[in-house]
Amino acid sequence: MHAQAANGPPATTGDDVESLDRQSLLHPFTRVSDYAAGDTPPPFVVTRAEGVSVFDQAGKGYIDGFSALYCVNAGYGQRRIIDAMHAQAEAMPYFHIFAGATHEPAARLADKLLQLAGPDMKRVFFGTSGSDANETQVKLVWYANNVRGKPNKKKIIARRRGYHGGTIVTASLTGLPIYHQGFDLVSSFVRHTLAPDSFWGGGDDAALVQRCMDDLERLILEEGPDTVGGFIAEPMIGAGGAVPPPPGYWPAIQEVLARYDVLLILDEVVTGFGRVGEMMGSTVWGIKPDLVTLAKGLTSGYAPLSAVLVGDKVWQALQAGTQVHGMFGHGFTYTAHPLGAAAALANIAVIEDNQLCANARTVGASLFSSLKQRFEGRPLVGQVRGVGLFGAVEFVAEGEPLRHLSPELKFAARITTLARGQGLLVRTMPYGDIVGLAPPLILTHAEADAIVDRLDCAYQAALAELTPSQRRGEPA
Ligand SMILES: Cc1ncc(COP(=O)(O)O)c(C=O)c1O
Repeated sequence: MHAQAANGPPATTGDDVESLDRQSLLHPFTRVSDYAAGDTPPPFVVTRAEGVSVFDQAGKGYIDGFSALYCVNAGYGQRRIIDAMHAQAEAMPYFHIFAGATHEPAARLADKLLQLAGPDMKRVFFGTSGSDANETQVKLVWYANNVRGKPNKKKIIARRRGYHGGTIVTASLTGLPIYHQGFDLVSSFVRHTLAPDSFWGGGDDAALVQRCMDDLERLILEEGPDTVGGFIAEPMIGAGGAVPPPPGYWPAIQEVLARYDVLLILDEVVTGFGRVGEMMGSTVWGIKPDLVTLAKGLTSGYAPLSAVLVGDKVWQALQAGTQVHGMFGHGFTYTAHPLGAAAALANIAVIEDNQLCANARTVGASLFSSLKQRFEGRPLVGQVRGVGLFGAVEFVAEGEPLRHLSPELKFAARITTLARGQGLLVRTMPYGDIVGLAPPLILTHAEADAIVDRLDCAYQAALAELTPSQRRGEPA
């Protein structure tokens, strides 16, 4: 079936790839029976990528307006990252760091991440995905509270609309019901609280912050403060719709957490490494976490790697734990994988040396202001929002009061499909009618303008398909 290329993977034709794929792969977040039966459009087969663009098998180019899954922060084809991975693969492709073993990329990367995080963070633990890192966080909270003599403090509060991963624990933490259905989730120790969304929040940010604060405190008191161990949240809502917090939200939440000795796990899987215009989202919103989760932009997706930053409180408990339990009994074969660590070190150097945080701020500001100018006030456009190079256009039904379009219309998904026809990849967020934007941080002003134009064409075509009653959000 395949012609074996001399020095590479088997060469296949486009048709081969599609039929092999439909017959053999179980795809994440896909209607699997429709896909297996061939009742879906052909898969989008990406063969090549360079700069901010990816190319399909026919050679057509697309601006990747979502950095794959908001991870390719440094852009594609970064020679420095590729060379670092290559050199590491030649020198020593893999060794573990269990029980006293280590290697240079792991030590250097841990040191670099602590420098970036500032003096509050004391140690770094590595995994391979955002999910396993958040799973580690829950284990750390449990372990630390056992050592601290608070063995009942085990419940974790997450936010509705939060996304934290796909394992049993992290899918439970996730506050989007679509990720629970059919899996017997949510786990018994997880609770969800209100997430702040100024757009739907009634127009008064101070009142919204108070509601979030009250809801969190009510939950802690209802559950019993001696049973609540941790609170996990993204600095700004990510998969739940790219929603920045209103002013005052984080100080208010941190006040409640401190009052009841609840550890703050800050999930910076999306917001880390320049995405919101600073190396860490915590700097943008003045957040002082006990634990931080990093992945995605840590290597810009060039290799699977995640990191848990451990703050002083938990580090003290871990040290005390040695006297109680002996060795720290947690880790993975691929903890601190050398290829991932080498990729991350080079990636961070690329982000720093090319001032990609500053580029995210300036090009991001102009992208979202152009989108506002172009879209706001037009039919069904609810809000355009963004911080750095992460944001969204949210669509709603026409008229008052504010309400969603009928979900069956899948309006945002339709725009995403039509945008691809225009040579632009964006993402339909798994909540409401929200088109997400998170292009690589190397984006130029000209590329930002092209994103606006292409999205506009897709929006106009999708809008033209709707009847007046559909626009008003009336059921079909
Ligand atoms: C905020 C956040 N946390 C955790 C995860 C899970 O990361 P992974 O898919 O690498 O397991 C994601 C993935 O999108 C995420 O957006």
